[in-house]
Amino acid sequence: MGIGGSDMYRQQILDHYKNPRNYGEIEDPTFSHVGENPMCGDTIEMDVVLDDDEETIEAVAFRGDGCAISQAAASMLSETLPGTSIEDLKEMDRDDMIDMLGVDISPMRVKCAVLAEKVAQDGTDIYFGEKEVDKTVTEDD
Ligand code: FES
Repeated sequence: MGIGGSDMYRQQILDHYKNPRNYGEIEDPTFSHVGENPMCGDTIEMDVVLDDDEETIEAVAFRGDGCAISQAAASMLSETLPGTSIEDLKEMDRDDMIDMLGVDISPMRVKCAVLAEKVAQDGTDIYFGEKEVDKTVTEDD
């Protein structure tokens, strides 16, 4: 699958890919957002529920279609985000996603690793009126 690293991490990625956590939809989420890697057409759509103060993420669900890295990253992120503050989400970057995946990611695959993170961040920015895009694309990363 074009990734290096230890067997344990590769197994973990495959496990998240085959058995994605929090896969599906949340009824009546605070917001939903979709992203695509235009190079391959892989997509991730995410539903997010914020707490009453709109400072912390309470729940995340996602659905998508794509490579093992993009979908495993979304699954792992969906486990990490509940309990995370909006401020901390905004500060996440590609290195956090690569650390989460635990494998060496080739430059070509970085877009795969960051798609879910970008969807969560853009969805948040759109919700708070700080950004205006219909869809996240990973072209610029
Ligand atoms: Fe499409 Fe990885 S090959 S997101």
